[in-house]
Amino acid sequence: MNVPEHIAIILDGNGRWARSKGMPRNYGHTMGAKNVENICRACHDIGVKYLTVYAFSTENWKRSDDEVSAIMKLLRGYLRTCFKLADDNDMCVRVLGDLTRLESDMQTTIARLEEHTKDHSGLYFQIALNYGSRDEITRAVNRIAEDIRSGTVSGEITEEMIGSYLDTRGIPDPDLLIRTSGEERLSNFLLWQCAYTEFYFTDVHWPAFDKEELLKAVESFGERNRRYGGV
Ligand code: IPE
Ligand code: IPE
Ligand code: MG
Repeated sequence: MNVPEHIAIILDGNGRWARSKGMPRNYGHTMGAKNVENICRACHDIGVKYLTVYAFSTENWKRSDDEVSAIMKLLRGYLRTCFKLADDNDMCVRVLGDLTRLESDMQTTIARLEEHTKDHSGLYFQIALNYGSRDEITRAVNRIAEDIRSGTVSGEITEEMIGSYLDTRGIPDPDLLIRTSGEERLSNFLLWQCAYTEFYFTDVHWPAFDKEELLKAVESFGERNRRYGGV
């Protein structure tokens, strides 16, 4: 099987999945958060090296206070259990996004988790949290401007330089991007990094996206003829 080195996933459809079961949206988020563990394990098992998941966007703050606080509570719990999950699956965890808007206890847990897992190398797992690609690029450009002003960097601004200021620095671009639940858009996820990524869309809602569904996506990827603009 031709396994992608890096899979990125837009975890969508928690709300619709819950509604289909006659349950509240927040139940969908609970089951969606549980499913992240399953897919981490599955990726580790099939030999994926990098997995990046979109958990909360810079636009998701527009949701109701009740929903935002339920999601933050889940993420907080998830980050705490992630220490064991990361040890069990040899995962190096990194959080992408503007973390300054998160509660300070969450920022502390993230720093501890990244430090605790930094030497793991079985699966490089990125969680995008308060992440928006335009925000990431804007933060990067501002830092480049600062570094030029202060003389820390000089010369031409290159694509490599921009890449090295992004939250994803050091991580190869995704080979395959999966979006669950039927929508076919990027919703501000990895705009720079997905320049040549293959896309896979499925109607399956995120909480129901299991290892079998993952393998379907990987199989579809294996049948693609990847092109990068050449002949
Ligand atoms: C994805 O599920 C989770 C987040 C964006 C946090 P949604 O909450 O977007 O579920 P739908 O799309 O409304 O069904
Ligand atoms: C994208 O899903 C963001 C995450 C999965 C975290 P949304 O459900 O928020 O995106 P839109 O609103 O359908 O584009
Ligand atoms: Mg959605």
